[in-house]
Amino acid sequence: MATSFVVEGLKAEIEGKEILKGIDLEIKGGEIHAIMGPNGTGKSTLASALMGHPKYEVTDGKVTIDGEDVLEMGVDERALAGLFLAMQYPSEIAGVTNSDFLRSAINARRGEGNEISLIKFIRQMETKMKELEINPEFAHRYLNEGFSGGEKKRNEILQMMMLDPKIVILDEIDSGLDIDALRIVANGVNAMRSEERGFLIITHYQRLLNYITPDYVHVMMQGRIVKSGGPELAERLERDGYDWVKEELGIVDETVGQEA
Ligand SMILES: Nc1ncnc2c1ncn2[C@@H]1O[C@H](COP(=O)(O)OP(=O)(O)OP(=O)(O)O)[C@@H](O)[C@H]1O
Ligand SMILES: [Mg+2]
Repeated sequence: MATSFVVEGLKAEIEGKEILKGIDLEIKGGEIHAIMGPNGTGKSTLASALMGHPKYEVTDGKVTIDGEDVLEMGVDERALAGLFLAMQYPSEIAGVTNSDFLRSAINARRGEGNEISLIKFIRQMETKMKELEINPEFAHRYLNEGFSGGEKKRNEILQMMMLDPKIVILDEIDSGLDIDALRIVANGVNAMRSEERGFLIITHYQRLLNYITPDYVHVMMQGRIVKSGGPELAERLERDGYDWVKEELGIVDETVGQEA
């Protein structure tokens, strides 16, 4: 069955403050959706709420992956169901090496009795690390500990490649990447494009979308998707900024959660 990820009327709050005010989104296998939008408009909150971050309380709406109710699932179950999030600020985990982390994540996804063999795992990891131009010694370093900004982002893409998820959410995967790393990361994403996999890419810059051509571009303001279009929408935003969107829609303050 082709992958289908559906978000309907999703509302979420943090500490009693409503941040997501009704998000509708449908991502099918093979599609790349980009979300753009000014700072503080709810983009990362959307990513976290979809992944089941305990800080965000979903108050309304429905999310399904291939017909299964995502909001009923815990974080681990969501990962097992094929959801993957590369966070804007990946956390460091002391005491767990990158390769141990990856292997347990892969095995959790594959299920008991179907674990990946050590040899196969190492071979796969080495191949992917080479593609992403990650120094082999990073396999044995503690997860993200002391990684530079760009190294963390590359490592997130390594995880994505190894875990083979159905729905990939990338939150500012391009932030902090140098020009060469941006190309390497984009190549990694493009190599993972398939009919079985959908992408939601949160970014501030059209530059990333020059490398990864989206099918749809959405603009987020005030905790809602206020405008959607094709790649040309990202180009216009790069050229003209957000003022014209605000004017068109009569939005004065685009941020969310600042109300008294
Ligand atoms: N854990 C939290 N505690 C308190 N407020 C939060 C939390 N997470 C999000 N918010 C608030 O929700 C609003 C939206 O934040 P969010 O991180 O979703 O924005 P964003 O669109 O990702 O912005 P940026 O482009 O700067 O990354 C902000 O006002 C933010 O302060
Ligand atoms: Mg953010």
